Amino acid sequence: MKRREILAAAACFVVAVAAAATTALGANVSYDHRALVIDGKRRVLISGSIHYPRSTPDMWPDLLQKSKDGGVDVIETYVFWSGHEPVQNQYNFEGRYDLVQFIKLAAKAGLYVHLRIGPYVCAEWNYGGFPLWLHFIPGIQLRTDNEPYKAEMKRFTAKIVDLMKKEKLYASQGGPIILSQIENEYGNVDSAYGPAAKTYINWAAKMAVSLNTGVPWVMCQQKDAPDPIINTCNGFYCDQFTPNSNNKPKMWTENWSGWFLSFGGAVPYRPVEDLAFAVGRFFQLGGTFQNYYMYHGGTNFGRTSGGPFISTSYDYDAPLDEYGQLRQPKWGHLKDLHKAIKLCEDALLATDPATTSLGSNVEATTYKSGSVCAAFLANTGTSDKTVTFSGNSYKLPAWSVSILPDCKTVAFNTAKVWINAVTVVPSFTREAIDGDSDWSWIDEPVGITKDDAFTKPGLQDQINTTSDQSDYLWYSLSINSEDGAGSQIDVESLGHVLHTFVNGSATGNSNNAKVSEDVPVTLVAGKNTIDLLSVTVGLQNYGAFFDLKGAGITGPVVLKLKNGSAIDLSSQKWTYQVGLKGEGLGLSSGDSAQWVSQSSLPTMKPLVWYKRSFNTPGGDGPLAIDFTGMGKGEAWVNGQSIGRYWPTNIAPSSGCTDSCDYRGSYGANKCLKNCGKPSQTLYHVPRSWLKSTGNTLVLFEENGGDPTKIAFATPQVGSLCAQVSETHPSPVHKWSSDLRAQTKSGPVLSLSCPHPNQVISSIKYASYGTPQGTCGSFNNGQCHSQNTLSIVQKACIGSKNCSIKVSNSTFGEPCGLVRKSLAVEASCT
Ligand code: GAL
Repeated sequence: MKRREILAAAACFVVAVAAAATTALGANVSYDHRALVIDGKRRVLISGSIHYPRSTPDMWPDLLQKSKDGGVDVIETYVFWSGHEPVQNQYNFEGRYDLVQFIKLAAKAGLYVHLRIGPYVCAEWNYGGFPLWLHFIPGIQLRTDNEPYKAEMKRFTAKIVDLMKKEKLYASQGGPIILSQIENEYGNVDSAYGPAAKTYINWAAKMAVSLNTGVPWVMCQQKDAPDPIINTCNGFYCDQFTPNSNNKPKMWTENWSGWFLSFGGAVPYRPVEDLAFAVGRFFQLGGTFQNYYMYHGGTNFGRTSGGPFISTSYDYDAPLDEYGQLRQPKWGHLKDLHKAIKLCEDALLATDPATTSLGSNVEATTYKSGSVCAAFLANTGTSDKTVTFSGNSYKLPAWSVSILPDCKTVAFNTAKVWINAVTVVPSFTREAIDGDSDWSWIDEPVGITKDDAFTKPGLQDQINTTSDQSDYLWYSLSINSEDGAGSQIDVESLGHVLHTFVNGSATGNSNNAKVSEDVPVTLVAGKNTIDLLSVTVGLQNYGAFFDLKGAGITGPVVLKLKNGSAIDLSSQKWTYQVGLKGEGLGLSSGDSAQWVSQSSLPTMKPLVWYKRSFNTPGGDGPLAIDFTGMGKGEAWVNGQSIGRYWPTNIAPSSGCTDSCDYRGSYGANKCLKNCGKPSQTLYHVPRSWLKSTGNTLVLFEENGGDPTKIAFATPQVGSLCAQVSETHPSPVHKWSSDLRAQTKSGPVLSLSCPHPNQVISSIKYASYGTPQGTCGSFNNGQCHSQNTLSIVQKACIGSKNCSIKVSNSTFGEPCGLVRKSLAVEASCT
């Protein structure tokens, strides 16, 4: 053992390792004030969140490998209680919920795991991950010091810990799990729970520790996390965070790589310059564990999305996109960042940071111990600066961190994105759906048609009535009118969507979380039926008492008469039907004798089930359905729900920027795109759910749409672009503290086709000089070397990847002292 390690091990604060027998392969995980300590060695760890049910098991190996290749060491995932125990005491660990398999695959890819059991998880997951049956346990109050709740929380947490132990998945047993989380951001809401919050969190800590996992526990956003639990930070920036004890390391469990999308919202994105800056600052100021939330976001299949109104896509602008493809230049730039940080690892772990100011908004941090030295130079202002550090001069772009693994030579700057990173301009091609049979349909009847409908006086809360077995609840009432005098009905609903039908015809449609609708109605003399279809779109997942928020038509419902008087219908005897008739009949599977196939396919009509068969489009790349033409509903392929679709829910027309300035603090609303367009038109269809021919697609359409308009969409690699200037550092993997070697290697532009069996087939653009514009629209500046295209063609065409030195020695000197760069746009086939 080196001296440094002995010191580190001696300072170690060993956590709850007592009961776990360490096997020969096993790792002892503990921590001290600097870092997690694995087998006596402090570690700098890069982590990335991947939630296993948001992709399919056949995608997992590739996602994990791409994480590993991107420089990730740890996979962080929540455990999704509602998926594992949909009915009390009936467990599901199959398919997308095969947690054990997911963790074993992570280990196989050489990755550690941080298991965030929660079991409340938030996560934009339906009801924050709680199963609905929890809500109906007599006397229960969730997330507080309440015996029935604590009994269930303990039972599920212990169930997961036992499963992990049985499979030997904890590091203490030779497995990959080095860390676990209990609760989730309770500190953000605990004041609402009064004094019981404190006793609850102390109980949760004790309960977790008593499970003897042999690895440390964390609580995120929990300032008062009791020892030995480590309190960790979540946010867009965590460099200013300090843990609540000198014995605990500075850890960041959620660095939001983008943000989630809502139906009705614009698409959020987070520029990689800012994300890399946040990471750079965190490691500069003493952090040693950082996790991207999300590294792969994925898809909210079925009815798993939280809400209300969380979209089916959970892409999150993560380094791996919804389909698992590399998102460039994000993935590549972060990969280089991780390499640069790892070059500093010895220095980071040997000592504490020493930070000094180099002027306004400029900070230098040095980690120096014996012969090792690493430095970080940060410019936290919005204008570029030149500074002197240790006698040398450095240019620091605005809002950036430069990493100097030897305290002298810059290996990486967070704002210089083009270093070995490429931009792929993705495009989707539409492909008509073909198959043996065309569309057939079944009308979903308006109002009460199921045998299990029931009558109750007064208006009932929707979640209490449906137990979330369906998005749909019918509220129906018959009223007699002597003269057909009614003129308007006013409905107050907690949401999320309301459709009104009077005497069988649709009269209105509304989709605000809280619906307050005044619907003009025409009554007939005699009996009239008012049918209200209330629809949930993902149950609340965040906030104090989110579980009690409720949904549906809780009233009042008032009928206004022409003569000016009003009748409150709220306390009448309403008839309720949970779910649709077609749901009861299992139409989503496509099996039924009732499908009608005639040429008069109904379109733009509410409440219709549609079905057709289809052949799977060729290729092995990602596949989506473009739902343009449809309204709102849910879709199933071969009986599996690909999620809710809602292409008619349009983002606000303003608030977007195409090129968001990364300089300055980021927030969830700072960088938005897609304004005035549907929030989501493309919906992921996992290939593993398909056969080559004879697949069944079923849609339930709520508002009205034309299914003949929908099409498959396959993402195509548009172009591969890179731009590297003469002033860029050498590629980080060529970094050397030997300045001469560094200068000799110099900046390099590298291109690499994203798919294994592709080669670079053409160079669409190449200029060495002062090229202008961005990927897809590059054009020559005043300075341009005529031979660029032929040199780049020669170096790249026919190869899977190529590298070109960015210097006069490659292209000749086109124009003297001007600062030059090389820009290339290529295609792969
Ligand atoms: C955090 C929460 C995560 C997720 C995130 C937003 O507050 O811990 O579960 O909801 O916000 O995506």
